[in-house]
Amino acid sequence: MPVPIIIDCDPGHDDALAIMLAAANPAVDLLAITTVAGNQTLEKTSLNARRVCTVAGITDVPIAAGCDRPLLQQLAVADDVHGESGMDGPHFPEPTVDLVPEHAVELIHRILVEHPEPVTLVPTAPLTNIALLLTRYPDSAARIREIVLMGGSTERGNRTPASEFNIHTDPEAADIVFRSGVPVTMCGLNVTHQALATPEVLARFEGLGTELGDICAGLLAYFGSTYRRLWNMPHPPLHDPVAVARVIDPAVVECVEANVTVELHGRYTRGATVVDLHRYLDRPVNAKVAVTLDTGLFWDHMVDAVAALGRTGLERPGARG
Ligand code: RIB
Ligand code: CA
Repeated sequence: MPVPIIIDCDPGHDDALAIMLAAANPAVDLLAITTVAGNQTLEKTSLNARRVCTVAGITDVPIAAGCDRPLLQQLAVADDVHGESGMDGPHFPEPTVDLVPEHAVELIHRILVEHPEPVTLVPTAPLTNIALLLTRYPDSAARIREIVLMGGSTERGNRTPASEFNIHTDPEAADIVFRSGVPVTMCGLNVTHQALATPEVLARFEGLGTELGDICAGLLAYFGSTYRRLWNMPHPPLHDPVAVARVIDPAVVECVEANVTVELHGRYTRGATVVDLHRYLDRPVNAKVAVTLDTGLFWDHMVDAVAALGRTGLERPGARG
């Protein structure tokens, strides 16, 4: 039976491919897409989610916009990474998929209440919507199967030396999620940096010979230019789809159990995920932490998803009738 999931995202080049992977792979049932401010403003991340669903033929999944700023601090977008639009690079036609009028938190809560089984949440962005859901609707925790998130790192950050962007953007929200008691799996930079979009990977997308394959190659090419410019990395890591891949096929992402604490007060470390891999601190295990990626299997899942969506045009595989 496919695992019911909701993606909470801030498209975002890598969010875009995470949506495609979730929409196409039959191991998951994508019930909703929700958006949040992060890589860009809420207006832009929501428009980008609509753009992705339009070009990928994802027309039967509700998209709801959520929080337009972090819980406490000001929003600081990543236009240096994702560009002014939040998804610079390829041209996207005007979207034909609209937002639903519900706030993201209300839509997630309604689905959790109505769905016959617990739902897995897959946040690939700052955790503002998820923290607000858990705070506004404490009952929702029992109806969440698991939170499998892209964020944090067992090592260094990418927004400060210590903190990764999704956690750094809203540390209070991340703290609420990691302390919620809901089962959490953290896919941090330490594992997503194993998902490098090499020229061979780009060639696989271009070789599909579809508009969607070309758009994905264009997204990765732009992302690659950013990573060369900002981090002198030859190939860009494709962060967000790793969280989806973990739900699709747990064997793709090896995890260990650990305590993860979000640093809120450090002058130079605020937003860091302090991952106690060796149990130095007397703090309870509260997360599975991803450590190793089967990169071959990961890219096969990713390319197969884009191939399936590109083949079927506006009617995607697994679409509910
Ligand atoms: O640090 C990587 C994360 O920040 C990814 O989710 C990317 O989309 C950005 O949101
Ligand atoms: Ca993201």
